Parts: sequence; structure tokens; C-alpha cells
Amino acid sequence: MSFESAPTRSNGIGEVVITARSFEEYKAMFALSPDDLTKRILDCPGGAAGFTSEGNSRGGDVIACDVAYSLHTANELAATAEAETDRGNEYVRAHSHDYVWEFFADPDEHQHVRHRAVQGFAADIRRNPNHYVAGRLPSLPFPDSSFDLVLSSHLLFSYADRLDHAFHLDAISELMRVTRDEARIFPLVPVGSSEPYPQLDGLLEELDSRGITARIVSVDYEFQRGATHMLVCRH
Ligand SMILES: C[S@@+](CC[C@H](N)C(=O)[O-])C[C@H]1O[C@@H](n2cnc3c(N)ncnc32)[C@H](O)[C@@H]1O
Repeated sequence: MSFESAPTRSNGIGEVVITARSFEEYKAMFALSPDDLTKRILDCPGGAAGFTSEGNSRGGDVIACDVAYSLHTANELAATAEAETDRGNEYVRAHSHDYVWEFFADPDEHQHVRHRAVQGFAADIRRNPNHYVAGRLPSLPFPDSSFDLVLSSHLLFSYADRLDHAFHLDAISELMRVTRDEARIFPLVPVGSSEPYPQLDGLLEELDSRGITARIVSVDYEFQRGATHMLVCRH
């Protein structure tokens, strides 16, 4: 089953993985402050991540949006996310030299943490289905300025082997349309690389011409080697 926006090419991971990063990973990769966590937040693509579940259970106001939510029932999504977590873990084991083993001590811990996030996601999507909205970038089903902060992890730049430059530009413009303030995107490094997206400078200029100011900001999180920065976009 594929949720891609274009055919698979060559980063070696196969179809876009429906991953399940944990709340703690989100906090670190987006440098989220306690104040950020009080904002109305969109996580897009949410995948099977634990951020929406745990963010809301901590008193936050978080909605997840992903193309996968349109294609499955909650039970199917939960089962798919479990299998996808193992597929992602197999990739990480096979390419362990491309990862920094600090946030996770080893591939076993990576697998365990990600499965725990899937379980949180699976329970939450059954309990609060309205927190999980089907949508496909670059066109989201939300009115302008619906959120204060948009978080976008591991689709843009990660899958630059199959998502072209125009898609990146349009997707970021769309993420900015639905936030009244800010969008943060992580990482800036494609899967299978340790170097930033090669057309990043041009993208920042094109965003600027659309009235979007984008800054590259270092974060205190590195799992994929070289993936140490997020893009912070503001109107
Ligand atoms: C690698 S996962 C990232 C999930 C989550 N942000 C995380 O870090 O665990 C990529 C997600 O992008 C979703 N996706 C792929 N193309 C999309 C599109 N055009 N619009 C919205 N979601 C998309 C997939 O279904 C998948 O769940």
C-alpha cells in the first residue's frame, strides 16, 4: 500500500514509512518549549506518532493530519503502523552507521520506543478520532490560520528523492496557510544522506518571495546522522 505523492525512486527505504516518533522525539527535534505546548498545534504528517495522543493528554490542543488516515479504519491503521514500525526498524538496523546511537542506545530501544508510540496512537485514534484528520499535502482540509503552530516531520526533505521542488514549495506554503504564526519542519536531510536538501537555498528565496521568512535553526537532537537542524517558517 502506498501513500506517496510520486512513484518510489532510489533512497532505498521503499514506500514512505508510516512512522511513530514519540512525544519526546517531537519535543527534541522541534525544540518545543512549555509555552509552545500550550498552542493550538497541527502535526502534519502525523503518521502513527505519539505526539497528538500525549500532547492532548498533557492538556494540549493538538490535531494530526495524514493521507494515511483516509485509507484505513482505526484497527487497520494500528496494524499497519505496527508493521511499518518494524519495516522502519529493519532499515535502521541495515543502515545503523547512518544513525547516531545516543537518543536511542541501540536498534532494540528504537524499536521498543516506536512500538510504544504506536500503541498510544492506536488507543487515541479509537478514543478521539476527531483528532486525526485525513489530508494530503499540498492541500489541507483546514481554513486559513486554524493553528498557532504547525509541525512537519520526516516527509518534506526526507523524501526528496520522489517529492520534487515544486511539491516542497507548495507544501510549505500550504502549511503556512493553515498557521497564523509559525511552521517548523524537521529534518532538512533526505533519507540515506547526511547532507541537507541540495536546493535549500533556492527554496528559502522562493519562500521569501511568497512572504514566508524561513530560518535554519539548530536543535538538540540527532538520530539520522547530520540531521541536526529544523526550518522555522514565519509570515
Ligand atoms: C515518515 S512518516 C512521518 C510521520 C510522523 N511525522 C513521524 O515523524 O513519526 C511520513 C508520513 O507522511 C505521510 N504522507 C505521505 N505523503 C503525504 C502527503 N502528500 N500528505 C500528507 N501526508 C503524507 C505518510 O502516510 C506517513 O505517515
